[in-house]
Amino acid sequence: MRKRYLVGNLKMNMNSPIEAEQYLSVLRRESQGKTWPRTEIVIAPPFVHLDRFSKKLPPDIRLGAQNVFSEKEGAYTGEISVAMLRGEKVSFVVVGHSERRRYAGETDEIVSQKVRAALKGGLSPILCIGETVEERKKSMTVDVIRQQVLAAFHDISPLQAEKIVVAYEPRWAIGSDLTPSPEDILQVRVVIVRAIAELYSLPVAEKVSLLYGGSVKTALLDQVCFRAQMDGVLVGRESLFPSELVRMADALESYEPPRHGSKEPEA
Ligand code: PGA
Repeated sequence: MRKRYLVGNLKMNMNSPIEAEQYLSVLRRESQGKTWPRTEIVIAPPFVHLDRFSKKLPPDIRLGAQNVFSEKEGAYTGEISVAMLRGEKVSFVVVGHSERRRYAGETDEIVSQKVRAALKGGLSPILCIGETVEERKKSMTVDVIRQQVLAAFHDISPLQAEKIVVAYEPRWAIGSDLTPSPEDILQVRVVIVRAIAELYSLPVAEKVSLLYGGSVKTALLDQVCFRAQMDGVLVGRESLFPSELVRMADALESYEPPRHGSKEPEA
């Protein structure tokens, strides 16, 4: 059975230790007595809260980071290394988020260096890719996605490639309340699988987990995840509400995909 994923990207929220503590205490209360054996739940708080989160997250939830630098250590003011994240018990790291590409000038080349560094140091990268609204209007989505995948997987062994989690996040859907149709997402899913298969093989491509991100809410899971045949979701705003996060985890955990060959229920 394929693993399901729920990744909460808290972004640059929780400006005070008190807010972070409150979030953790509500999350612990909401998840009390629950387990999600089929679902990998990851929360990525701001760097300054990693220590707090690593000590106080509920046991079934893994710790993620929102960014990492590709060099091991040294004169890189303001950067955070893979080893530093490992020291804080981080297991996953978001790489190439569109906000990093946009505000920090991260190129496909930089993203690929970060993916390699994360894998080498034992972190699982959650690689974000996605087209802009202009690219979509110009029917460039397929080319953009393919290019981003080929660049990010550059120089990575098949065994390492299987550890990458790819999150398709159309830039126009992030923070916007706009969401693509299941068919649109499925189409991109095919493009991603084909691009990875081109680099390795179809069996390797099929092992890579694929998530959808961009204005995800519990009520939209059917549209953006289940019907789109994705393995899970990357959630921004809604992950700031622990009760919603737990609701999504429950929905992902209990989802039963239709059996092969079984008919869709009639409307
Ligand atoms: P959103 O953010 O859910 O607030 O749209 C998603 C993301 O940026 O990963």
